[in-house]
Amino acid sequence: MAEILTVDKACVYFSIYRGFPKKLVGQIKAVDNINLSIEKEETYGIVGESGSGKTTLAKAIMGINPLDHGSIYYRHEELNELRKRDKKFIYRKIQYIYQDPSSSLDPRKSVKDILMEPIKVHNLYPKEERLRVIGEILGAVDLPPSDFMSRYLANLSGGQKQRIAIARALLLHPDFLILDEPTSALDVSVQAKILELLDSLKKRLNLTYLVITHDLSVISNVTNRISIFYLGHTMEKGKTYDIFREPLHPYTKLLLSSIPIIAESEKKFKPSGVPTIEGEIPSFVNLPKGCRFSTRCPYVFDKCQSLEPEMKEVKGGHYVACHLY
Ligand SMILES: Nc1ncnc2c1ncn2[C@@H]1O[C@H](COP(=O)(O)OP(=O)(O)O)[C@@H](O)[C@H]1O
Ligand SMILES: [Mg+2]
Repeated sequence: MAEILTVDKACVYFSIYRGFPKKLVGQIKAVDNINLSIEKEETYGIVGESGSGKTTLAKAIMGINPLDHGSIYYRHEELNELRKRDKKFIYRKIQYIYQDPSSSLDPRKSVKDILMEPIKVHNLYPKEERLRVIGEILGAVDLPPSDFMSRYLANLSGGQKQRIAIARALLLHPDFLILDEPTSALDVSVQAKILELLDSLKKRLNLTYLVITHDLSVISNVTNRISIFYLGHTMEKGKTYDIFREPLHPYTKLLLSSIPIIAESEKKFKPSGVPTIEGEIPSFVNLPKGCRFSTRCPYVFDKCQSLEPEMKEVKGGHYVACHLY
């Protein structure tokens, strides 16, 4: 299988300034030495709690967040080194669907205007054909054009807005879609329908997906392979089936057990009688020495607090970064 996207030792750091005059007080290593490669026409998942660096990596792939170290390749071309014209073309082929369609799509615009925008920016299709193309793409995301073409975004439901965001991405004939929490803003009843639509589009158009989510049911249903993120770092990666059947990293085991992980600060919301795994998620500024999960890990031993574990291949294609292996 050919690789379509490769992330090689990628790091994205944010500097934190405080006071007046501004002083550098620390650095958030939101993406810290991430490696992954995505094969053509697979669905790859990134799973992790809120704040683990998922969106930061997506934005690095899109060129929105510059890398501090490492490289990202699309079809073996390093994105950073592309000339402007090639970049514009490649960022038609890679499309990013933002976390929340309500905030990424202007509510004052009509569906037609939203969909016309990328067509104009990239100067696609002859003028007299553009409305027909928009009608077709609305049909492809199951929104009848006669009903939706002139509706305003503010008057659409969450699921309908997500369909518009998908339609807008598809207009540019991408082959790789990054879907950032594609269902988290939607009602449960609508979530399955959006996943079904994404699956049928993928098969029809031979798309490759990177799905980012904290929702394990989404991941287990739609992905072939996954990376488990914790504080900007990969703890485990491999085939989704293998990881769900036999999780290796203590953190993955915690995630997959149905036990809610409750941070110290949220303890007051803890329903009584429910077993929980406790412990504050450490802050990025004060990352624990050694393994970043060592402060919460039930199996912690000396080495974990001094040496960061390297990623090891434990079984064919199943990797873990943990001193227990
Ligand atoms: N532009 C930014 N400036 C400073 N910190 C940021 C910025 N973007 C993200 N972060 C921080 O990086 C960390 C990872 O955030 P994010 O990638 O959004 O996590 P996720 O998508 O997994 O919830 C968080 O601590 C967040 O506050
Ligand atoms: Mg996010």
